[in-house]
Amino acid sequence: MGSQSYFKALIICLIALIGSTQAQLQLGFYAKSCPKAEQIILKYVVEHIHNAPSLAAALIRLHFHDCFVNGCDGSVLVDSTPGNQAEKDAIPNLTLRGFGFIEAIKRLVEAECPGVVSCADILALTARDSIHATGGPYWNVPTGRRDGFISRAADPLRSLPAPFHNLTTQLTLFGNVGLDANDLVLLVGAHTIGIAHCSSISTRLYNFTGKGDTDPTIDNGYAKNLKTFKCKNINDNSLIEMDPGSRDTFDLGYYKQVVKRRGLFQSDAELLTSPITRSIIASQLQSTQGFFAEFAKSMEKMGRINVKLGSEGEIRKHCARVNN
Ligand code: HEM
Ligand SMILES: *[C@@H]1O[C@H](CO)[C@@H](O)[C@H](O)[C@H]1NC(C)=O
Ligand SMILES: *[C@@H]1O[C@H](CO)[C@@H](O)[C@H](O)[C@H]1NC(C)=O
Ligand SMILES: *[C@@H]1O[C@H](CO)[C@@H](O)[C@H](O)[C@H]1NC(C)=O
Repeated sequence: MGSQSYFKALIICLIALIGSTQAQLQLGFYAKSCPKAEQIILKYVVEHIHNAPSLAAALIRLHFHDCFVNGCDGSVLVDSTPGNQAEKDAIPNLTLRGFGFIEAIKRLVEAECPGVVSCADILALTARDSIHATGGPYWNVPTGRRDGFISRAADPLRSLPAPFHNLTTQLTLFGNVGLDANDLVLLVGAHTIGIAHCSSISTRLYNFTGKGDTDPTIDNGYAKNLKTFKCKNINDNSLIEMDPGSRDTFDLGYYKQVVKRRGLFQSDAELLTSPITRSIIASQLQSTQGFFAEFAKSMEKMGRINVKLGSEGEIRKHCARVNN
């Protein structure tokens, strides 16, 4: 190799190296391009979340759905258009909330630095700040995600775990996005807050094997209570807490319910079917602080799922629609 071509090769390697080191999530990605972005988000959350603390649950679930479907790229926030049914309009959407909160924050951030901060990052940061501001764990949110162009109603059905999924299916779906059994048990611990609809458990309560029966793995007293006071028949679609009595408190309540066979969903009950997941639950039950620290690790991992970086995707102007 001549020294000139050697030099050329060296330059190419160097450019590739710089390119690849830039194209990563990093803490404070907007420190130069929009130094106030993270402050604006935190301030809005702190000022508004107390009007509706249950929104923290909605926001972390939005972030979860975003990440599992096409990567954390804001695709969950996109509205359907005449030519395209978006993720929002898929069955598992039914109860997604919090879109207005994200859009309000996006407007403030756009006013400060137009076209700089992605909706995917705003969602990730807002979810973290909302959970933390309402007494839950804190986790690092490295930023630099770009917004995706694609949002299709069919995708959530393939990628998202459902309340009737067995453990194998749950582990497969988590495995598909690089998460393991530990991440599954930790992340689903978020069911310590928030609400569900009876429709998510109507089959479990009223027609488990198609014979008008109830899932035998659910605690008898709890099933009876649910049927008498909460979901009174198979068509009742009332709201129910997943962690009765402490649905606004991020604590060990969910795991405590699950080990008493009072997890709301079949997917929750399934966590008791393997010694591996059982022991992960048992170790969380040792301490809230330990749970928070482990939860933080898994959240950071979830936030990295198939992110779009560098020149991929775009920075959306409005979170509900891709730019022209
Ligand atoms: C196996 C995995 C999971 C399954 C099967 C599952 C299923 C569900 C279902 C069926 C609901 C209630 C929907 C309704 O009936 O309205 C729900 C709510 C919720 N999920 Fe999950 N989930 C899973 C994992 C996660 C993860 C990873 C997170 C967050 C890190 C999460 C956070 C939440 C929250 C906070 C709510 C309450 C939302 C609200 O109050 O609006 N879930 N989940
Ligand atoms: C969820 O999807 C259904 C039907 O696919 C749609 O009618 C409904 O408006 C959607 N809900 C939200 C909150 O987007
Ligand atoms: C879990 O569910 C899947 C899909 O319904 C099924 O194919 C599989 O046999 C089930 N696994 C177990 C262990 O029940
Ligand atoms: C219960 O399940 C069976 C079998 O899937 C179905 O034929 C029946 O209509 C269901 N009952 C109700 C009340 O939905």
